[in-house]
Amino acid sequence: MQKFVITGGRPLIGDVNIAGAKNAVLKQMAAATLTAEPVTLRNVPKISDVTTLREVMGDIGFELRRPDGHALEIVAREAPWPFIPLEAALKIRASFILLGPMLARFGRVILPNPGGDKIGRRPVDFHVDAMERMGATIVHRNGYYFASAPPDGLRGAEVTFPVVSVMGTENAVMAATLARGTTVIDNAALEPEVDDLIVMLQSMGARIARTGERRIEVEGVDTLRGTEHRVLGDRLEAETFAIAAATTHGDVTLHGIEPAHLGAFLEVCERTGVVVETDAATATVRVRGDATRSYRPIDIRTDPWPGFATDYQAPLTVLLTQAEGVSNVHETIFEDRLDHVRHLRRMGANIEVVDERRARITGPTSLHGAEVEIADLRAGATLVLAALVASGTSVISGIEHVDRGYEQIEAKLVAIGARINRIEA
Ligand code: UD1
Repeated sequence: MQKFVITGGRPLIGDVNIAGAKNAVLKQMAAATLTAEPVTLRNVPKISDVTTLREVMGDIGFELRRPDGHALEIVAREAPWPFIPLEAALKIRASFILLGPMLARFGRVILPNPGGDKIGRRPVDFHVDAMERMGATIVHRNGYYFASAPPDGLRGAEVTFPVVSVMGTENAVMAATLARGTTVIDNAALEPEVDDLIVMLQSMGARIARTGERRIEVEGVDTLRGTEHRVLGDRLEAETFAIAAATTHGDVTLHGIEPAHLGAFLEVCERTGVVVETDAATATVRVRGDATRSYRPIDIRTDPWPGFATDYQAPLTVLLTQAEGVSNVHETIFEDRLDHVRHLRRMGANIEVVDERRARITGPTSLHGAEVEIADLRAGATLVLAALVASGTSVISGIEHVDRGYEQIEAKLVAIGARINRIEA
């Protein structure tokens, strides 16, 4: 088991290259199975979720190669073993994204209840309902979903999501690209990663258009072709480094991130007093902390895009421990996403859990190093951020959760002046 040993208190100064987005690349790997022709993805992050999905897709019978560090070539000629084992799905909830494309292209797939972060129940009923509307039969038995399409393939349908769902939208869009007729998806997700997937699918010949504020229309085609696509920058990684710069009163320039993709996070920076300069032309964002002025507290609630992302919520809490006054955080998307609070308290934070979705943070507090354990990906980034601003040394275990979504986080942090080591425990 590996741990991070972090000694905090140093301002972080320098440049960071932001990797390709985890929440985009996994869907794009799945999209590559919609064609028999080769697909090349560029800017693919070296994270363990990509490795896990690569293994899953390799076991199904697809060919996946990494010719150089950040490219990935995928050829999905046939699917002799259209089965996803429970062990892999427990590691990576996004494996459920193979449902739509595999049903559309190969007519069947067997996959288990997915895992992923420990942030609540995370059901998949929206995905199942959408596929059934398109004519699929899905039987749930012994923890597995046995999904099959009619002999003449999926058909276009009207799909309305009761709650905005990122992966639900993506599964429905991908299934619809090869379905007969037109699919209309309402209450669809607007996240930049969804649009990046749509751009990739369009380059493969799919007919997809956003025709209303939360409406996507897909006209099915007979086949799709291969493509080459560059994965957009990871806004969640960018936000993590931005908070590290702000809390340590550093000065960090992020490269490879479209400022518009940071969305509501930039507004939060403005409201709290974090200094941000953006340049869309060069895809750079500079974040500075000013040690002579304190940050302002804010009230924030998480929402689907264009709202404040649930994945930003836990890391933002670290910034709010450094703001002067009382901040309130309301998590509306997931029911169990405040697990980081008890660890931050051990590090000296003054945070009250109002109920399972609400936390009240009183600052500023001087955080101090502690031994803490990470339970999920974003909570992991949060504890790393807390340790970077804390006095003294922290020992953080469970760092495999961080490796799921951050490429070489410690190397990037060391390069901007952090004292962080990965040790074998
Ligand atoms: C994606 C992101 C995750 C992010 C989340 C919300 C990936 C791999 N993960 O997850 O990082 O936190 O969007 O922005 O892209 N729901 C149901 N039934 C379903 C599906 C979802 O009830 O079948 C609920 C969820 O429990 C949640 C809400 O809908 O309350 C939104 O979840 P969803 O957008 O689907 O999250 P993911 O796509 O799984």
